[in-house]
Amino acid sequence: MSKILYAKSVTNVKVDELLNKSRDLASKGLRPKLQVILVGDNPASQLYVANKEKFCKKIGADFKLIKLASEISRDNFLAKVNEMNQADDVTGCFVQLPIPKHLQDIDITQLINPDKDVDGFHFKNIEKIYMNSDKGMLPCTPKGILTLLRENNIEIEGKNVVIIGRSFIVGKPLSLLLTNRNATVTVCHSKTVGIKEHTKKADIIICAIGVPHFLTKDFLNGDKKQILIDVGINKLDGKTVGDIHFEDVKDQCAAITPVPGGVGPMTIFSLMENLIESTQNILNQRK
Ligand code: GUN
Repeated sequence: MSKILYAKSVTNVKVDELLNKSRDLASKGLRPKLQVILVGDNPASQLYVANKEKFCKKIGADFKLIKLASEISRDNFLAKVNEMNQADDVTGCFVQLPIPKHLQDIDITQLINPDKDVDGFHFKNIEKIYMNSDKGMLPCTPKGILTLLRENNIEIEGKNVVIIGRSFIVGKPLSLLLTNRNATVTVCHSKTVGIKEHTKKADIIICAIGVPHFLTKDFLNGDKKQILIDVGINKLDGKTVGDIHFEDVKDQCAAITPVPGGVGPMTIFSLMENLIESTQNILNQRK
């Protein structure tokens, strides 16, 4: 049986660190405060936002949700984003994605104040990864995966890592972050020919393709030394499942993240780390 990489065994230990940092910042005059804009009533988005609010409470940070009607006009939406960007008491913010169709031509990730960009999607932050600098805010899912690997003493340097998926949120930034940490990275995607030839050679496979149960044991080499990271959150027959077929592969690898309880909660944890970091940066700028 492989090791199951639960987020809880990392976050339960580290949450007190964040609480202490949050209290310290508050005592110095700037309490961390996360503000989120949610447009419309997408149930998955509502659940994500509720989970983020819960975690803010755990680390002693304030949380404010601005709910906007899905028919909101472009001008009113942009005015709300601007207000959030400028608010002195808000130290981290984002617009929950997806946004309604009539707003989708707005490049919202680039309109967020980069100093408060806890998602780490603004090009001012992405550019830092590109240039191999640790100074910017890291996107939350890639950051959470790096933390999970580090806290489980899983080496990255010199390893062959296959990422399945090339999204702006996960695959692309993660490929750079792992390259910066001296891994040899292969990015596969829906048009890759002979994907199993790549995955069989990998030490670590990160699956972020958004297809339930995509990766099965015939993608693995059977040496039981491979590490499997599942980024997927899909609904299948009313159950939440990942992109990896957990039951099929669990005895064929060295370690695997569960869904739920793996990468998802690590993403929220990273958001909280970024909130503490942005609050600290803003406080330093104000001094
Ligand atoms: N919707 C789903 N995941 C995310 C995320 O990481 N950030 C934002 N802003 N919206 C999302």
